[in-house]
Amino acid sequence: MKFEKKTKLIQLFSGNEFLSYKKIIDNLNISRNAVLKQIKSLKELGYHIEFDKNKGYRLISKPDKIIPEEITNELDTDIIGKDVYYFKSISSTNIYARKIAEKGFREGVVVIADTQTKGRGRKNRFWFSSFGGLWFSVVLRPNILPERGMFVTMVASIAVAQTIKKITNIDPVIKWPNDLLINRKKVCGILTEIDIKNDKINYAIVGIGINLNNIISKEIEKIGTSISIEFGSDISRIEFLKIILKYFDNNYKILIKDDFNKIKKLWTNYNNIIGEKVKIKDNGNIKTGIILGIDENGYLILKNIDGISKIFNGDIIYL
Ligand code: BTN
Repeated sequence: MKFEKKTKLIQLFSGNEFLSYKKIIDNLNISRNAVLKQIKSLKELGYHIEFDKNKGYRLISKPDKIIPEEITNELDTDIIGKDVYYFKSISSTNIYARKIAEKGFREGVVVIADTQTKGRGRKNRFWFSSFGGLWFSVVLRPNILPERGMFVTMVASIAVAQTIKKITNIDPVIKWPNDLLINRKKVCGILTEIDIKNDKINYAIVGIGINLNNIISKEIEKIGTSISIEFGSDISRIEFLKIILKYFDNNYKILIKDDFNKIKKLWTNYNNIIGEKVKIKDNGNIKTGIILGIDENGYLILKNIDGISKIFNGDIIYL
């Protein structure tokens, strides 16, 4: 109930005009005292609200805080982002998302945290997750063949690429299987964990880590950068996230309609690997060859001296 009132008040303020007591009371159906309480609680969350005794209240600025109501407010999606769980700090959003997926929560749930103490990357690597970045996981239950699971990561990476392009006009590159690069440095990584039951995907946890406004530590500055560094100024995390969720929802709906060719086409817009000579490290095996593309399951097709091989997982090094 409390949650609904706050959401409504935030919505009312989004018109950017002064709101009289009467207007707030009529819209929220609460007392004058309750209005004061709601305004106070928004201020405590970091909303900057001015007051004019003749005109009422007006919103001056919103905090760059992750506030679940701000995410769900006016989020025009069908599946993703209907429920949002936010934590100031958590071990890993993927771990929490997995727990709630096991409990049977519906698909589309977003778990997000300001910082992670045990952020996980691919191959069990540590993922730096300091304040200012976007660290979140989405629970999905796609009714597609398990062998097509890589497409779930692909639709997420396309959504992040589309968002970077829309907000900054920078063209990012998707590096197979799941990295996004700007100027050859990593700005986003995706860790998808899939649970299969009775030969079907029971759930997929898509963990997305985006270096947005966070500081890039010395240890990773040669290989990683942030979107704000490349863009030249900080970007609202909430706005960025909402746009990703919208694109993700669109792309996901294409995926569950089995339109894999459309996904491949979208993916190719952000990919420049076809025809590249590369070395791929996969569990100690090193293969060198030329990339021909990806197949119907999202595997990489590599042409090398032994012929054609398909690669499911690995780290690409451009030669
Ligand atoms: C990679 O190795 O490139 C994948 C990194 C994925 C990091 C994200 S941050 C949110 C989610 N929670 C985690 O612990 N990992 C993923």
